Amino acid sequence: MAKLWGGRFTKSTNKLVDEYTASISYDQELAKEDIEGSLAHVQMLGECGIVTSEEAKTIQKGLHQILEKVEKGDVTFSVDQEDIHMNIEKMLIDAIGPVGGKLHTGRSRNDQVATDMHLYMRSKTQLLIELLETVQSALLEQAKANVDTILPGYTHLQRAQPISFAHHLLAYFWMFERDKSRLADSLKRINILPLGAGALAGTTFPINRRRVAELLDFEDIYPNSLDAVSDRDFVVEALSACSLIMVHLSRLSEEMVLWSSQEFQFIELDDAFCTGSSIMPQKKNPDVSELLRGKTGRVFGHLVGLLTVLKGLPLAYNKDMQEDKEGIFDTVRTLTGALQLLAPILGTMTVKKDRMRHAVEKDYSNATDIADYLARKGMPFREAHEITGKMVLFAIEQGKYLLDLSMSDYKRFSPLFEEDIFEALKPENVMRARESEGGTAPDQVEKQIKLAEAKLY
Ligand code: ARG
Repeated sequence: MAKLWGGRFTKSTNKLVDEYTASISYDQELAKEDIEGSLAHVQMLGECGIVTSEEAKTIQKGLHQILEKVEKGDVTFSVDQEDIHMNIEKMLIDAIGPVGGKLHTGRSRNDQVATDMHLYMRSKTQLLIELLETVQSALLEQAKANVDTILPGYTHLQRAQPISFAHHLLAYFWMFERDKSRLADSLKRINILPLGAGALAGTTFPINRRRVAELLDFEDIYPNSLDAVSDRDFVVEALSACSLIMVHLSRLSEEMVLWSSQEFQFIELDDAFCTGSSIMPQKKNPDVSELLRGKTGRVFGHLVGLLTVLKGLPLAYNKDMQEDKEGIFDTVRTLTGALQLLAPILGTMTVKKDRMRHAVEKDYSNATDIADYLARKGMPFREAHEITGKMVLFAIEQGKYLLDLSMSDYKRFSPLFEEDIFEALKPENVMRARESEGGTAPDQVEKQIKLAEAKLY
């Protein structure tokens, strides 16, 4: 089939070249954005008298018809037309005749594809922000129900100090809050219009770039045409923000895998969100969490991939840049799937409060509170730490926990101990005592919930 750029060529393209260079198999994802950009471009061409307003209207009508078909899934794209831009232009010319060939006046595929990518990133960034909010709200609901639920907090995956389960869940709330703010910040740079940069140097036509920006709701235009067509920073930024989101999702997933294991039994995931084994009838596996953890790798890969594509490119457009698409499309799909599942998984999981409580009781995670007790009575903390360490060792040797030791045991280690030590060491009190701002005491956690609600609603 004849190429839209065929004039300079004496032979038809080798079939393998067509297949190798074509991007239509994946950039058809940009069909709507491409048409949206074209509608604004031709509107401006008409208003500036570069095409007649009649011509502009005919082209717009044709584009609307194609858009309708795209929305219905009623179009067939062709590898011969290489990419989404030429596929749509060809459909337009087929539909309305040679006047369709005026659409590309004063623009190039280079500023066109950059514009499509900006439009795509804008809507997907907004979508990701919304999906992150659904996860935050699921975390918040579970947090509200678990302010007084005590479990061991860990460092080095060794039991460290008792904390509120709400506090633990809210830690993820704040990670996602930062993720949202990164995405929202990136919108500032996404909302800049490249169209009008032409292939690289601008155009000889008296276009009005600001009008196109207004029509497409961009805040500004690129001030440099070379930069406009060469810039994929905004895609790198999105991949980077998404990589960090995946880090957070993956850490949460890892905890869910651990918590739902026989060894922990802190939560039980809903049957609807687990899978079984083809051989072991007893199995109930947290596949979604595992897969989410696993899919983190591909998102990191896409980030490094695009950074590498861009790093050696001379200005301005190079075909290498076509490689920006599959990675970000896959990333958006990966994150969308993960976030859509995580909200209901968190919402339907059963929190096994008794198991968490048991883990805190059969444990030495109240040891810090013995040291703090002695320090409050004037003993230098370092000395208090040393004595408490010896007490822990003593208790372990006796096969006891710290709360099981007798008053005389305590007195043997320091005369500063009094009866109130036993109250101080109860898990609730250990948790309640951490009242510093941002700490795990229920009062503080309630405050945190208020802060979180204010962010979300
Ligand atoms: N499919 C191309 C891409 O995604 C569109 C721009 C092509 N420009 C060109 N001069 N070959 O990058």
